[in-house]
Amino acid sequence: MANNDQYIGTQYLLLGQTLSFTGDPFEESEPSDAVQHQSNGAVLIQNGKILDLGLDDDLIRKYPQAQRESYGQDLILSGFIDSHAHYPQTRIVSSWGKRLLDWLENYTFPEEEKFSDPVYAFEVAEEYLRTLLVNGTTTVCSFCTVHRESVEAFFEAATLTGMRVLAGKTCMDCYAPDALVDTVQSAYDDSKSLLTKWHSRGRLSYVITPRFALTSSSDQLRALGELWSEFPDCLMQTHLSEQEEEIALVKQRFPQAEDYLGVYEEAKLLRERGLYGHAIHLSIHERVRLAKAKAALIHCPTSNMFIGSGLFDLHELKTRGMNIGLATDTGGGTSFSMLRTMAACYEIGQLKGFSLHPSQLVYLATLANAKALKLDHVIGNLEVGKEADILVLNLRSTEGLASRAERAEDIWQELFPTIMMGDERAVRSLWVDGKCVKSDGHQRG
Ligand code: GUN
Ligand code: ZN
Repeated sequence: MANNDQYIGTQYLLLGQTLSFTGDPFEESEPSDAVQHQSNGAVLIQNGKILDLGLDDDLIRKYPQAQRESYGQDLILSGFIDSHAHYPQTRIVSSWGKRLLDWLENYTFPEEEKFSDPVYAFEVAEEYLRTLLVNGTTTVCSFCTVHRESVEAFFEAATLTGMRVLAGKTCMDCYAPDALVDTVQSAYDDSKSLLTKWHSRGRLSYVITPRFALTSSSDQLRALGELWSEFPDCLMQTHLSEQEEEIALVKQRFPQAEDYLGVYEEAKLLRERGLYGHAIHLSIHERVRLAKAKAALIHCPTSNMFIGSGLFDLHELKTRGMNIGLATDTGGGTSFSMLRTMAACYEIGQLKGFSLHPSQLVYLATLANAKALKLDHVIGNLEVGKEADILVLNLRSTEGLASRAERAEDIWQELFPTIMMGDERAVRSLWVDGKCVKSDGHQRG
């Protein structure tokens, strides 16, 4: 998107308030103890990497030749990560009613049929990724459709943006229209050839993707479990225990399984590097096995409210040491924005009797998601050596927010109203892989 030549070798010094994590705010008795905040901070980047962090005066003195980008009182932090989404549902987001299975049948499946056309798939992929950038998201892990073309289009569009993108062909061989089903063999073969082509290519990763228990036969799940064991460093993504009607049907379809999670266990689809979306209605026994497996649960709060699925038990699952990510789940989720997603996460926390601290919300949308995606060694935090995916938030993006921010006594009071009420107007600038793709509220390139 941006002109690449201007960036090669150039040092950029971003000046403003800075926020980075020194620990896990869920593990501190005072969550803000896990955060380093500088009112007069600076971040030095070059060739796509963070080279130095510190106080503005110190870094200006140390790097007099660096090109300065002054963001005043705005907050510089790591770019948002969205750990569960469906890019093919971009054009059906916020479709009315009723429950998960009706919603899949009436809106999702008819739209997903269109992705056999590579031109359509590429057009939506570009539109979707552009929307993410406008909202400050620099990494996404998305489902595609059953069609190979939908995966090729998504990775091709992602390459043009420079974003870190994880995705996979959605496998389903039953409980879907004829135009949307594959077979045991074609799911395995197509996933394997797409994985071989795209996994670890630049900033892209392939994710093995059985949609959920209801749309795969036991044989297909087992074939994908087999594929996962052939490529153990890959991630696997699916859905788990989202709605009660779905869980009842899973029980009917897989009577031999101990429970919903047991369906995946039997197919060797439960282990570390597995991403399980929603995970709302879990028995204690399932929680224990998920924690033991070091699986990652992905909380999708706007979707869970919109489809009426239930309230994710974040606090209880965190106390078990569970690895938890936060995601939009568009188009079941009603927003592309991780700000809106954090707000919904806070609201569900309130309904469960647990008030999440702003540092915990930001952590979920950045470093916790990087950990869930096994990418925390390269992204998710402002840290020397990490990739320069950097978001600059204007905490005064509307009159109401400016008025709140002016009365704030610390960074948390200043930031929290933007988490709750902010939108793409709060995203002043965005740097992806060390290149500025949104500047002063306008998309570049
Ligand atoms: N379960 C299986 N497929 C889907 C989907 O596309 N969205 C949501 N929210 N849940 C699912
Ligand atoms: Zn989903």
